[in-house]
Amino acid sequence: MADDQHLIRRMCRVTTMRFNVKLLLCVIIIAACLMSLSWWAKCGESQLGDSRLYPDRAEESGNHANYPQDPRDARVPKLRLNHETNAESYSNIECLINDEYTVSCRREGKEVYVPFSFLEKYFEVYGKIAVYDGLERFEWQHSYSKVYIPKGKYEPRGIFMSFENYNVEIRDRVKCVSGKEGVPITTQWGPQGYFYAIQIAQYGLSHYSKNITDKSPVVVSYMDSASIDSAARQWKLPDKSSKLSTVRDEELKRSVLEFHTSDTLTSPGVMLRLDRANELVLSTLVSFTGNGSLAVSVQMRDTKDIYTLHYVQSDTVISARGRAVYYGVGARTRWSRLTRDLFIDLQKGLPLIDRFSRKVKLKNLKVVAVFLRGGGRVADLTLSTTEHLRLFFLAADWLVANQDENGGWPIDVTRTLIPGVMELAPGWYSAMAQGQAMSALTRAYWKTREPRYAAAALAAADIFSVPSERRGVVATYMDKYRWYEEYPTTPSSFVLNGFIYSLIGLYDLGAMCGGSSGDGAVCTAAQAARVARLYRDGMVSLKAMLPLFDMGSGSSYDLRHVVVPGSAPNLARWDYHTTHINQLLLLTTIDDSPVLKNVAARWMEYMKGKRAKHN
Ligand SMILES: *[C@@H]1O[C@H](CO)[C@@H](O)[C@H](O)[C@H]1NC(C)=O
Ligand SMILES: *[C@@H]1O[C@H](CO)[C@@H](O)[C@H](O)[C@H]1NC(C)=O
Repeated sequence: MADDQHLIRRMCRVTTMRFNVKLLLCVIIIAACLMSLSWWAKCGESQLGDSRLYPDRAEESGNHANYPQDPRDARVPKLRLNHETNAESYSNIECLINDEYTVSCRREGKEVYVPFSFLEKYFEVYGKIAVYDGLERFEWQHSYSKVYIPKGKYEPRGIFMSFENYNVEIRDRVKCVSGKEGVPITTQWGPQGYFYAIQIAQYGLSHYSKNITDKSPVVVSYMDSASIDSAARQWKLPDKSSKLSTVRDEELKRSVLEFHTSDTLTSPGVMLRLDRANELVLSTLVSFTGNGSLAVSVQMRDTKDIYTLHYVQSDTVISARGRAVYYGVGARTRWSRLTRDLFIDLQKGLPLIDRFSRKVKLKNLKVVAVFLRGGGRVADLTLSTTEHLRLFFLAADWLVANQDENGGWPIDVTRTLIPGVMELAPGWYSAMAQGQAMSALTRAYWKTREPRYAAAALAAADIFSVPSERRGVVATYMDKYRWYEEYPTTPSSFVLNGFIYSLIGLYDLGAMCGGSSGDGAVCTAAQAARVARLYRDGMVSLKAMLPLFDMGSGSSYDLRHVVVPGSAPNLARWDYHTTHINQLLLLTTIDDSPVLKNVAARWMEYMKGKRAKHN
């Protein structure tokens, strides 16, 4: 998965920095006996098992911003903390590390205390002082990431893995959600920004999953067709030459608002004053005549600053000036729906206004006005807490509209795994993109039964039969095992998480085809059999090759240590390691192979510092 977990790492860094300051005061907390490995086991068992410690930091992937910080931080009681130390019983002692350098330690009788700031770097562990229930505690974690135990059998129409916890669009590497297409634009492998099918499919899948798990949205309608005349009276006209009326629209076959006023953005426009704090997703049908535009003003509740988000009919993705952010929504002279998460749109615009802008807090925003400029019609304007399904379908529709003649979504940036050794020139396909798209498109099909989604999902499988060297995605390991490559480099890279995502996509596709026989409705029997074989072959490879990724204390991200002579393993950082585990746990609900179960269980132990036994 090429997806973003820097946020967590940064959070961890912040936490530990905070800790380092305290460290000076508190000096020593953790006793450690560096020479003994059994030390690990002890520590591992006694304290680390408590996942309660990091309820949100442990989130898998960049989804923190919607979560409160550590909830206990908010309820730190105002009381005197116990800082008594019997300093006189400690003495200073030098710790000589591997005969190489020294660290200043403390000694108390037979025990030696090593500074945590040293241990932290030496062992890559995480710790901070936390205060709750009137006590200070030092909380130590071996990893910063969290495993989600599946609640039941994986369902191709259900939640996608643990994606209900993802918030793709908030990630820093998402430049913004494009106004024209309504999907995220990434800066991941290229600073200019581009559409990345993996990210778009994940955006769709996360909203699809949240639609299942979130509580029902609050939807405030400003244009019920029943009461549209009274709705129309709420709007304010800037001058005598501006007009606003309700008319019957022949295409929509309902009453809509028609407006006419100056189209210049400096003119006040036709305005609807609002005051909504929680409903920050706008959705409306709109059809402009000529150069119309729609704008929304949002206010920061603390500073009272007002920012305006302009949705203008241009192709410029995003720009900003003063307290205004402009999103190009393309030509909208026929009826189309505009659905915008105003919180995200402001969040992405602020850095363009002020490079050092603070992150916006969801709770700090309210919508204060909607403006219409130029001429046109609007209907069904709502503000909601969420619009998950509409956002999901924007992603699914993008996938349908942008699939090429090979059934793929070519990625137009260079991807370098190892400079000069494993590189992909722009235009490569990714089995992960194909697989995640299948997972999104099959869900779109189940929801709507529209054949175009089924056809696109099915066509996405074609590339799984084309070898990497011929711009496909299949690698073969030891002339035997077929592996669908997230990055189809030559030599092959065998990235694990991307491969498993592609298998889940094939599984979803197989389910849509109705098993290996096909029910004829969406897949022919031959197509269904082909999909089933692709999945089966992939699972055989996974079970055979999974041990190669086991590093004894963690997992490896890919197999470069096997493929490139002399290359060191590319260890998976904790969030990728937990992705591996989450994926394996998902597979164990649909395949009872002991390999998957045992490896997943062992890899979970690694997260608490356990290691494979040595001889
Ligand atoms: C999910 O989508 C359906 C259909 O749009 C909607 O009725 C429902 O309220 C949504 N639920 C959530 C939690 O988003
Ligand atoms: C359309 O409106 C935008 C924003 O008001 C303005 O910048 C642009 O010049 C207008 N274009 C035309 C052709 O009037």
